Amino acid sequence: AFIVTDNCVKCKYTDCVEVCPVDCFYEGPNFLVINPDECIDCALCEPECPAQAIYSEDEVPAGQEQYIELNAELSEEWAANNITEKKDALPDAEEWDGVADKLQYLER
Ligand code: SF4
Ligand code: F3S
Repeated sequence: AFIVTDNCVKCKYTDCVEVCPVDCFYEGPNFLVINPDECIDCALCEPECPAQAIYSEDEVPAGQEQYIELNAELSEEWAANNITEKKDALPDAEEWDGVADKLQYLER
């Protein structure tokens, strides 16, 4: 599966959701996740993210491995919040794009 990682937190640009053929993105307050059981590994979303936050699970950057489990867990928790259409990014997205270690800010 593909995984949404750290740089999505506090940015949530949502360009990714538009291209997913199986609509497997789920939304929380300041982060999105991919349901790994629904993702068909098409890779279409990866280049769409302006924050480069999406990786194949084999290529998740070192130190961000916990996001693999987090996408599985939160896609269940946020199952009612399927998102398929782009909306405005979070207001401070540009300032937060590229800031390291944003897991501490992830809201549930
Ligand atoms: Fe959807 Fe394809 Fe991205 Fe998986 S890799 S989340 S199926 S767009
Ligand atoms: Fe997040 Fe990038 Fe999608 S910032 S919402 S993974 S376009």
